[in-house]
Amino acid sequence: PRVFSSPQLLALLTQPLGTRLLIPQQCNLTGWWKNDLGSKMYVSEVDSQGNFLGEYHTAVSSAQKPIEPSPLVGSQHLDEDGQCTFGFTVNWKFSDSTAVFVGQCFAEKGGEEILQTSWLLREKVDSQPSNWKATRTGQNTFTRVG
Ligand code: BTN
Repeated sequence: PRVFSSPQLLALLTQPLGTRLLIPQQCNLTGWWKNDLGSKMYVSEVDSQGNFLGEYHTAVSSAQKPIEPSPLVGSQHLDEDGQCTFGFTVNWKFSDSTAVFVGQCFAEKGGEEILQTSWLLREKVDSQPSNWKATRTGQNTFTRVG
């Protein structure tokens, strides 16, 4: 038997059947997103397993070289409650660094979708004594732009 979480039960009880059929809860990451730093990312089709590819256009960088769009690979849960979690890795093409993002999608009542993410950015260091300073962390909020 299917087990529902509390938010799912609430949605089932409060959302009329017609609305539920016409406006499915969203959470699919496919499309363009922009974050609070001005960075943009494109997620191409999410497959039936929740795997996806995309391209990250960062607005900021600590690298010496000019910024270039960089590939991302990730996966998301395919929950139908609009609150799925996901993760992706960005392999920066203009830098030796690698970033990983984890996050959750929140599908708001008006149809707006917000991605709340946390990231780790690993830079390359010369030797292990420098390992302590090699990882930055932070948070970004994304909204859909396309
Ligand atoms: C680098 O500086 O070596 C590569 C670019 C890193 C960009 C970071 S990743 C986390 C944060 N969120 C963004 O949108 N851009 C920065």
